[in-house]
Amino acid sequence: ARPDALPRDLEGRHVVVSAGGTREPLDPVRYLGNRSSGRQGHALARVAAQRGARVTLVAAHTADLVPPAGVDLVRVGSAEELRTAVHAAAGSADVLVMAAAVADFRPVSTVEHKIKKGDRDPEPVALTRNPDILAELVAARRPGQVVVGFAAETGDAETDVLGYGRAKLKRKGCDWLVVNAVGDGKAFEVEDNAGWLLSSGGAETPIPHGSKAQLASVVWDAIAPSAELRGT
Ligand code: CTP
Ligand code: CA
Repeated sequence: ARPDALPRDLEGRHVVVSAGGTREPLDPVRYLGNRSSGRQGHALARVAAQRGARVTLVAAHTADLVPPAGVDLVRVGSAEELRTAVHAAAGSADVLVMAAAVADFRPVSTVEHKIKKGDRDPEPVALTRNPDILAELVAARRPGQVVVGFAAETGDAETDVLGYGRAKLKRKGCDWLVVNAVGDGKAFEVEDNAGWLLSSGGAETPIPHGSKAQLASVVWDAIAPSAELRGT
């Protein structure tokens, strides 16, 4: 849809969207990263701005994307930086969307100087868990604040993608969970996406295959009515 054809149903709302993949530094030149391009988070931020929201986009590493017009952009690197930026913006947020691919683990320590190859085999890299930012946002949620999580699942022999999504929604306690099938060239580093939008109330909306902007529209169509209830 053309921006001028979109509803202005997020007018007066503050929306915080995290996007992209975090990078966990090993030393000044190396990091542990992931394949997130940031495209889905950018699309969510862009469509929210087009629908009238004030948008804070907390962007970890993204592919060569032009940030959407009219959003407040905060650039971050590691999960820890993303956490600080999201919490700083969360106070005034009506909706928090965690579309970022946050590293589950980070190196226990970051080496101050570039690690040299030397002439011996390397030590294993010791990792530690990162905080679960989405769980923190849910725990700190104000009444009326809407928290949205994402889940990228491949499914396996035991459970399919939707099954993992349902379990993750329960575990995370967020209001909405967008479930994407990944692997086999799906979702990561591509232009399109598909999946389900699950609500804590049990509603399950299939999201048809389409652009990441179309997925964003499905998400905002579902959330805007509840985000509007509060008024400001
Ligand atoms: N997330 C987060 N902080 C983390 C890890 C994930 O806020 N340290 C958020 C993601 O941004 C996403 C949601 O949690 O919105 C689900 O992420 P996912 O990686 O699918 O869930 P995990 O709980 O990390 O489970 P697993 O990776 O084992 O599937
Ligand atoms: Ca994870």
